[in-house]
Order: sequence, then structure tokens, then C-alpha cells
Amino acid sequence: MLPSLIPLGLVALLGATAAVAQECTLDKKCPEDKPCCSQYNQCGTGAFCLGGCDPRMSFSIDSCVPSPVCKDAELKMDSLDRYRHISEFLGDPDEADWVGQGDPIIFKGSTLLTMPKGSVGTVLASTRHMWYGNVKAKVKTSRGAGVVTAFILFGDVKDEIDFEWVGTDLSTVQTNFYFQGIPNYANSENITKLSNTYDNWHEYEIRWTPEKIEWLVDGAVGRTVLKSSTFNKTSNQFEFPQTPTRVQLSIWPGGLASNAQGTIDWAGGPIDWDSDEIKKYGYYFASFKDVSIECYKTNSPPGTNKGISYWYNDIRATNDTVVDGKKPTILKSFEGTGTDMDKGSPSGTGNGGAHASNVPGGIVNNPGNQVPGGVVNPGPGNGGGSSSGTGSGSAPPCKATGFSQTCPDETGATNNQNNGVRGAERTLGASAFAVVIGFAGLLFL
Ligand SMILES: *[C@@H]1O[C@H](CO)[C@@H](O)[C@H](O)[C@H]1NC(C)=O
Ligand SMILES: *[C@@H]1O[C@H](CO)[C@@H](O)[C@H](O)[C@H]1NC(C)=O
Ligand SMILES: *[C@@H]1O[C@H](CO)[C@@H](O)[C@H](O)[C@H]1NC(C)=O
Repeated sequence: MLPSLIPLGLVALLGATAAVAQECTLDKKCPEDKPCCSQYNQCGTGAFCLGGCDPRMSFSIDSCVPSPVCKDAELKMDSLDRYRHISEFLGDPDEADWVGQGDPIIFKGSTLLTMPKGSVGTVLASTRHMWYGNVKAKVKTSRGAGVVTAFILFGDVKDEIDFEWVGTDLSTVQTNFYFQGIPNYANSENITKLSNTYDNWHEYEIRWTPEKIEWLVDGAVGRTVLKSSTFNKTSNQFEFPQTPTRVQLSIWPGGLASNAQGTIDWAGGPIDWDSDEIKKYGYYFASFKDVSIECYKTNSPPGTNKGISYWYNDIRATNDTVVDGKKPTILKSFEGTGTDMDKGSPSGTGNGGAHASNVPGGIVNNPGNQVPGGVVNPGPGNGGGSSSGTGSGSAPPCKATGFSQTCPDETGATNNQNNGVRGAERTLGASAFAVVIGFAGLLFL
């Protein structure tokens, strides 16, 4: 179904290599030849097996490559030297601090994540995972209806802790958390009365321990959630984020017309691609600097952070299934997987290079319109990362956050309906080429 929907222009842009990745869910694991289920729920090798790879939905529990362990870091964000596009990164955290898609640029000592007209924005993810710890960042948000800025912790099994800003409310930051991606609309809470988040730098911090999460703004605790308060008697477990996560910074178009109505409403309405912001700068943007990561350290598990990498020994994916050990994290080529890390020849030539089927999102070297997994949910239903996302009708609730949308299916199992290729097909319309060309010539201020 999907291939026929891709505009001819996009196929040409991709050199007709737009292999449509197979989707994966808890009930439908990846096949042996494309064993890794990416953050965006698509199967592949290479980058699909690195950060974001979900062992629960992959062919086998060891299909994903072990994740680089947490290391304290002070990242000024004043250079892209330690940023790699996802098609250039094979898992060595000593080579890069961030891996991403989209258009990050440096401006006045900070990193701007941009969202040019018609694009799906930009996402940066840390190359190391953090299993508890403190992370802070100075952020100036984007503005405008439908434009979402996010600073989140996102785990391979979809444990998640969020700060999110909607571009129509510049005095509020929304906080949220998820356990294994299960939507729970009671979990969202706002921190309000901030001075204009677009004009002013504020410092946002997440402090995460095995017992609690605290969200701070400018050093003041705005919200606390205790693990003990998250116990679900029915499922008999703590629905509390408890596994290693990556730090993710992003800007994305929650108000894209093709998104679910609930998501558009939550994001403050449809996105305006002819806004003053677009006219003046050519893109929406959010600015980040001074990211600091302080790993949690204890002498006994969990969270000693003494190994080289984290992996899972059981697909229950609760805190007690995480191993902090010494397995390597680096693939030899984009053909590699967790069970065959030396497969293929190093980057560039032959089949070992990055191409659509081993880079999640499926598009390589298309700077104006990278697809960070897409944000598009084709179905009806309501979205919104907030408890008020009521949407229309009786469609199942979906959660939308940082490029991912997860909707429960009829059986109640969560099912990520997000799909990078769909994102591409919807955002790369007739204007695609104009945007790519236009972006290259842009000057900021
Ligand atoms: C948070 O604020 C937004 C407006 O910015 C509002 O739509 C939403 O309902 C609020 N959420 C909660 C949980 O109060
Ligand atoms: C508790 O778990 C059950 C079974 O998984 C689920 O149906 C229910 O929605 C959960 N309750 C809350 C408040 O999340
Ligand atoms: C996992 O969480 C449970 C419940 O909070 C706790 O009792 C246990 O010590 C934790 N186990 C590990 C290995 O982290």
C-alpha cells in the first residue's frame, strides 16, 4: 500500500531506493534478515540495531546492539564536531556525543534544531544511554501553532521522561512520563508561569533515581513523581521509567495536517508554513546549550554504570532485566546486527554503506527533508501528550511525543503506528525540491 502513495518526486530523490521497511510491534517481531526494530517501529539492520532498537519487538532479544553506558558529560552545544547524521554512525560513543536527523545548525554558541517549511523537524539523540541520573539543558523553545519543542529521555523499550513545549503557550512546560510506552493520560502535568520560553533561556532539569523523578526549571523543583505512586495493582508492576534511556532534543510538527486531530489540538492547532517565523528565517527553530549529563552512581545494581554497555536478558524489560556489562557497542558496517556485529565492510562502499533500508526513516542525504522517523499517524483517533487529549469519537488514544506516536490497538496492546516513509510522503509534496534548495541559501539573522 505504501509504495503507491509515495510521490514520484520522492522516489526520484531517493534514487528509487525507498525500500519500505517492515513494521514491528510486540506481537509482530522483525524477520531474521532484518532483525532489528527501530525506535520508529521499522525493521532493518545497521542503524536500526543501534540506539532506539527495541529488543522486545526485534527478531531475538540479542538482535539489538548493546547500548553504550552512561558517562558524565558537559556538552556546550557550540559545535557540530561531535554530531553525526544517523547514516554516518556505527555505535562508537567516543566518536560522537549526538546522532540525529534533520537540520541542526550552530548559531551564537548554541545548537539550533530547525524545521524548514514542509519538513518534519530535527532530532538529536545522545550516543550514550543513561540509566538514572541528572540531565539538564538550557533551552529557548520554538513558537507558533502546531510547533513542538522537546527535551526528553527515551528508552529502547519506550520508558520515557519528558519536557515538552507547545508553541502556542510560551509560559508553560509540560512534563510527562511513560512506562514502556503505555499511554496514561493522568501522567501529564504542567509547570506554569515561566517567563517567555521563546525569548528567554531557562534551565530545565530531570533528576531520575530508582525511587523518583523530579522536573526542575531554573533550579526549582516543579514536579515530583515517586515510583511508589506508580504501582498498578492489575498489572502488578510499577509503571515507572526504569531502563536506560537516551537524551533526545527535538523540534517536530505536531500540527501537521496529516496528524491525528487530537495531536493537532494538543500541539495548539495546524502548523502555519507561511508564518512570520518561516518568512523571516525560513524555518522554525529551538535552541539548546549547556547540556549536562550526570550519571547515577551506586555500588550495587541498578545503575552502577561500571560496564561498557547495557543490554536486556528478558523481554519483560523491567529494571531487573537490564545488564550493565562489557559487550562491545560498535558495528563494522550498516549490514551488522547485534548477533553479527562484524558483518560487511566499513562504511561507504558496497552493501556495507548506509542506505534506505539500514537507516531508520529511510532517507539518506536529503538535508532539507530528513525524516526523523516521521510523526505521522494516518489513522483517526486522538493524540496529545496530555491528559486533556480527548480528540474525537471513540478512537483509541494515541500518544505523540518526540517523533513517535503510539496507539493502542483494539486489544489494548500498544502499537506504534508511526512510519517514517509515511512522514516523507506527506511532507515531501511539490515543494520538496524548493525547500531543499531554499534551505541551502538561508541566512539566519
Ligand atoms: C497544560 O497546558 C496546556 C496549555 O499549554 C493545556 O492545554 C493542558 O491541558 C495543560 N495540561 C494539564 C495537565 O493541565
Ligand atoms: C493497570 O494495568 C492494567 C492492565 O495492564 C491496565 O488495563 C490499566 O489501564 C492500568 N491502569 C492504569 C491506571 O494505568
Ligand atoms: C527493581 O525495582 C524493584 C521495585 O521497585 C526493586 O525492589 C528492585 O530492587 C529493583 N531491582 C533492580 C535489580 O533494580
